[in-house]
Amino acid sequence: MCGIVGYIGPNEAVKVLLDGIKRLEYRGYDSSGIAYIENGILKCEKAVGKVAELKKKLDGNKFNTHVGIVHTRWATHGAPTMENAHPHVDCHSEIAVVHNGIIENYDYLKSRLEQEGHIFRSETDTEVLAHLIEKYFQGNLETAVMKALKEVEGTYGIAVISAKDPQKIVAARKGSPLVLGIGSQEYFITSDVSASLEHTRDVAYLDDNEVTILTLDDYKTKTIQNIPTYKKVEEVLWNIDMIEKGGHEHFMLKEIHEQPQALRNAMRGRIESSGGLIKLGGLMSCEKELREAKRIVVVACGTSWHAGLVAEYMLEELARVPVEVEYASEFRYRNSVIEEGTVVIAISQSGETADTLAAMREARHKGARLLSICNVVGSTIAREADCGIYLHIGPEIGVASTKAFTAQITVLYLFTLYMMNLKYPRNPIPSDMIRVIQSIPDKVQAILTMEERIVELARIYKDSENVLYLGRGYNYPVALEGALKLKEISYIHAEGYPAAEMKHGPIALINKDMPVVFIATKDSVYGKILSNIAEVRSRGGRLIAIATEGDDQILEKVDHVFYIPKTSDCLTPILSVIPLQLMAYHMAVMRGCDVDKPRNLAKSVTVE
Ligand code: G6P
Repeated sequence: MCGIVGYIGPNEAVKVLLDGIKRLEYRGYDSSGIAYIENGILKCEKAVGKVAELKKKLDGNKFNTHVGIVHTRWATHGAPTMENAHPHVDCHSEIAVVHNGIIENYDYLKSRLEQEGHIFRSETDTEVLAHLIEKYFQGNLETAVMKALKEVEGTYGIAVISAKDPQKIVAARKGSPLVLGIGSQEYFITSDVSASLEHTRDVAYLDDNEVTILTLDDYKTKTIQNIPTYKKVEEVLWNIDMIEKGGHEHFMLKEIHEQPQALRNAMRGRIESSGGLIKLGGLMSCEKELREAKRIVVVACGTSWHAGLVAEYMLEELARVPVEVEYASEFRYRNSVIEEGTVVIAISQSGETADTLAAMREARHKGARLLSICNVVGSTIAREADCGIYLHIGPEIGVASTKAFTAQITVLYLFTLYMMNLKYPRNPIPSDMIRVIQSIPDKVQAILTMEERIVELARIYKDSENVLYLGRGYNYPVALEGALKLKEISYIHAEGYPAAEMKHGPIALINKDMPVVFIATKDSVYGKILSNIAEVRSRGGRLIAIATEGDDQILEKVDHVFYIPKTSDCLTPILSVIPLQLMAYHMAVMRGCDVDKPRNLAKSVTVE
């Protein structure tokens, strides 16, 4: 989940690398480091903290270098210190390695290398790579890298340079994404396409067990077994403006405000204009399996798992397919039963989450058909699935997922209608089910215009130590998501519960200092939720309700009401989550938290 950028080309490499790595900071930011070759010598600089700290150390210097690698770290093995920051070098400081992933047999490799006389300077698993490459180096860097990698167990995306073979970068991938950026007479290797987008839109995605060798005039790719490979060069359609903050203070706020457009993009071209037919081109190859599906299992993590819960309710209610939603990390290690007719859906914004990927591979091993719902085009999960649906909402940079969640629900709704089409071909989708989703972006927009009202609420409750979120039916996953948003970025302890479960535990916590957010829209369980509100009120809790416009009845039952427009029950989560996203954001900002880079979290969790 760390960020990697490598550059070789006519421009001064340090500047290109620092600009690139800044864009990847969301992948990890506890330390960073750079290595480059200048006048035949390998030079290295590191800093603890954000990339700005590294930049400070290098500012004001003049560099004469055209090849280098840089890294921003999210610690796995070893604390975030200077010694543990990447790049890691060999005994003679002539080979430098940056790495994303985990070397699982590093203990064994390290003790063997130490016995052979190699001196280690860090606690990281990565350092073994530098020494292994040193061991095998006989004048050609790629040969040494390939020999070293054959001994390695685990996952990696690596980039390597050496003063002894100075005109090249060697990079390799197994389980951690790497993208080759192909410019005019310049090449990039990055763990995320956004890092090289300023320079080129032409990219090629490395596959597992593939190595690339970048030189000043060319690039080559081959398998780790030394068999040449051919890469399809693809054009990235995202542009750099799409990943800038667009005038907002934080990426998270920008992404919250982008939701109306993001949802339109997620629907574009997928609803046949005459209505009634959903076109999801990426599912064509799985149509038969989907039509015959007896069961759907959703695997996901974090916010994507919450979107999966909404899908469970929708698919069971509307398409009448049994659905189970599993944490990918649990699914992968338990011996689940996958009978014939099971379709597994992996939901992942990044498409790189290690647990989701592993769950998918486990399901494949047991014979399931695999469908992915990802945002990042060309990501590993998207490529390994048999078929899939992209969100098409542009990059999500804020660590706390916002627009991906609402787009996932949008796409899952379209998928539900698509399943209805497949299962009941004689019954056209009722036109109001189409109209209701088409009207969602404008309704999201209307909620966003009431942001000031949320700012007022945030001001009142920003010093809370605990917040409880309660919802039922389709709003139960929203309660979970609201609580997750708040704890992720404001560090306030928050819990989400199905409202009726409250009396089996959380009710004990309720007192005048405990704000309770009820998602109490006018749906099929509205009456039930009013009873739950009464239970909290009679115990002195402070009550905030997210309610449906026109519901005056609720006014006298709670302390504050935030109204959202009416929509169908199953699409309510897209609307009811917006005030919760805004509330978490404003409370966190008022508490002085860095919302785009919350402590200990990373955007893309590519380790177990
Ligand atoms: C991390 C992120 C979350 C995200 C989760 C799953 O924990 O901080 O925002 O929901 O990973 O990520 P995915 O990319 O698979 O949706």
